[in-house]
Formats: sequence, structure tokens, C-alpha cells
Amino acid sequence: MFITFEGTEGCGKSTLIRNLSTRLQTLGVPHLVTREPGGSRTAEEIRKVILNEEMDPLTELFLYEAARAEHFRNTIAPALKQGKWVLCDRFTDSTLAYQGYARGIALPMIRTLNRIASHRKSPDLTFFLDLPVEIGLARASDPNRFEREGVEFQKKVRKGFLEIAKKEKRFRVIRVSKLDPDQVCEKVVRELRKYL
Ligand code: TYD
Repeated sequence: MFITFEGTEGCGKSTLIRNLSTRLQTLGVPHLVTREPGGSRTAEEIRKVILNEEMDPLTELFLYEAARAEHFRNTIAPALKQGKWVLCDRFTDSTLAYQGYARGIALPMIRTLNRIASHRKSPDLTFFLDLPVEIGLARASDPNRFEREGVEFQKKVRKGFLEIAKKEKRFRVIRVSKLDPDQVCEKVVRELRKYL
């Protein structure tokens, strides 16, 4: 299973992935936890550039895709081949939501680049942790570039994810505003049990 986790800032993805990994360990499911941008040596180097430098939106898009090509070939594909589940913090849907729906780069071009960078492999399941952006931004302690873009940008990102969710059968939207981390994890585990 190739499972991705998406959401706007401060939605609790990292906590969920940590808790879920512990649960999968208990259940004896071999798995790998990874993230984008990053997840392999070169991709982590590219991540530093993306998150710390100012750049043209197209440069940014190409760097996310470059990092993805590295990450997919060196980390994701080998783990899937070994029969591991891969839990990936953000993937191609983030590029559509942030660079496409929010930044305004043409979606068809992003879809093409996404397909190339990920060797046409789509996630089997994608969990979108949905949270009103004001709540998420209030939680984010060390704002990165996208968080500093503010609430209007984040709203476009969220709307983008919800649009994608309408079209993609693999999407599971979890409304997290009234749930504690254990409850979010429980919902995900319940869904994943179907595949164990
Ligand atoms: P990170 O600090 O890991 O944020 P988070 O914990 O919210 O995942 O930074 C990753 C940032 O990169 C995040 O703001 C979303 C953004 N991003 C894109 O804009 N496009 C992409 O394709 C990916 C993978 C991430």
C-alpha cells in the first residue's frame, strides 16, 4: 500500500503519521515513513533550498518535482518493491493544491510533471486532514514560507484539496477540528484494516 497524507498547515499530519506508525508496528505491518519535499539524500538537500530561498513560482514547482523524482526512485519505489507499506507526508496532491490551485500555475502541466516524477504511480489511499485554516495557522509555531503567505493563500490550498477530493476515489477526508489525535488515528486505522 502506498498511502499519502495531505492537509493545510497545522492540521496534525505529523502527529497522525507518528501515531499510525506505532500502531502498524504493533500490528506487525512492515512500513516506511517518509515525507515530501525530502525523503532521500538529494531530495532533502533540495528541500532546504525550497523552504529557505525566495524564488520564482516555476522554479519552485520544478524543484518540488525534482525532489519527487529523487525520492520516488530512491526511497518509495524500493520500499514498495520490498512489500512495505509506504506512509508519505505530502505527495503529488500538495503540488496541485499549493502550486496549482493556490499559486495559479496551470493544473494540466502540474499533472503531467507529477506523473513523470512519480513514474505514473498514484497513491492507493490519500487521507486529507481537513481543518479550518484559521485554526491551523494559530497552531503553527514556526511559520514557513507558505504559512507566512497568510490566510487567503491557505484558503485556496484547502479549496484545492477539497476539489481534488471530489474527483479522486482514493481520497478520504477526515474533519479533524473536533477530534483529538487518538480519534484521528483511530479513524485512519479503521479504514486501513480493510487492507490488512
Ligand atoms: P513542512 O514544513 O514540511 O510543512 P508541513 O508540516 O505542513 O508538511 O513544509 C512543506 C511545505 O511545502 C508545506 O508548506 C507545503 C509545501 N509543498 C508544496 O507547496 N508543494 C509540494 O509539492 C509539496 C510536497 C509541499
